[in-house]
Amino acid sequence: MGYSNVVFPKDSLFLVTGGAGFIGSNLCEAILNLGYKVRCLDDLSTGKQSNVDLFIDNPNYEFIKGDIKDLDTCMKACEGVDYVLNQAAWGSVPRSIEMPLFYCANNIQGTLNMLEAARQKGVKKFVYASSSSVYGDEPNLPKTEGREGNLLSPYAVSKRCDEEWAKQYTKHYGLDTYGMRYFNVFGRRQDPNGAYAAVIPKFIKQLIDGDVPTINGDGRQSRDFTYIENVIEANLKACLAPHEAAGQAFNIAYGGREYLLDIYYGLTKALNLDVEPNFGPDRAGDIKHSNADISKAKRSLGYDPDWSFDRGIKAAIEWYKENL
Ligand SMILES: NC(=O)c1ccc[n+]([C@@H]2O[C@H](COP(=O)([O-])OP(=O)(O)OC[C@H]3O[C@@H](n4cnc5c(N)ncnc54)[C@H](O)[C@@H]3O)[C@@H](O)[C@H]2O)c1
Repeated sequence: MGYSNVVFPKDSLFLVTGGAGFIGSNLCEAILNLGYKVRCLDDLSTGKQSNVDLFIDNPNYEFIKGDIKDLDTCMKACEGVDYVLNQAAWGSVPRSIEMPLFYCANNIQGTLNMLEAARQKGVKKFVYASSSSVYGDEPNLPKTEGREGNLLSPYAVSKRCDEEWAKQYTKHYGLDTYGMRYFNVFGRRQDPNGAYAAVIPKFIKQLIDGDVPTINGDGRQSRDFTYIENVIEANLKACLAPHEAAGQAFNIAYGGREYLLDIYYGLTKALNLDVEPNFGPDRAGDIKHSNADISKAKRSLGYDPDWSFDRGIKAAIEWYKENL
């Protein structure tokens, strides 16, 4: 269970792209805590300098401010690297509908540049962030790899293309790639601010600030909200996965199902508040229900998540109370 017992060769070097963001900074921290070296590549477009400052004094940490849209930058960043954890991308379904060209350049060409650089520099394993959005309008639950529907947004297209490109790099160039189909990740350092913030940190901050959160739709949508520690475990275990599991994508979730309304009232209760939410229109491109079958990741990667939603949300609330 967990990742405390994962072991890599001494002096292993990990490159975390998007390492100044929410998931990336947590990956950097976990790798440093395990005693290995991390290089973080981030253009700080949605990430934060404060997520770099946290580690900058650690001799095992190196920061490159750069853009994965630039192949030369990717090549330099991959120099001497054993494992790539490619997290750099822009999230948000609604923003991708507003900016399709940027999502293609940033999320598809950027990842393709990273795959090419990793191949040329002889990286051992290339683990990359995909998303549950690749299931699109597939109605059956739980979502299972190999049963995907029509894509509902440019963001989903970008993640699906990344998976297809990664498969090509395994097939033709022998680069071991593993796609992490994250399902609604939450936890410390996730940005609560801005129009495109994820729902859990946004609601916690609004409630703490005395604002009234707005639920898009009727609140009866459900998601497999996944605590960050499980995502760290999946990434590290994918780096140790056998070659036979390469060229594939895996659901990375807890395997539970939480309704937005229940989360809302759980948060108000935990914060000792009695505030009714506002309700707004449904968001274009959103799916109503999403929960994951995680048996493939368990089988192929040895993924065995030990942070339930309840355990994770308690930890997240505590963190926001202390850090907002
Ligand atoms: N958070 C989730 O619930 C979730 C769910 C599914 C998939 N994902 C994926 O996981 C990854 C990390 O997401 P996150 O929630 O940590 O988002 P985030 O915005 O906090 O982190 C993304 C990081 O990538 C950096 N970045 C973006 N474009 C870049 C570029 N061209 N060059 C260099 N750096 C760049 C940003 O500055 C930021 O630091 C993304 O690929 C995202 O699509 C996240």
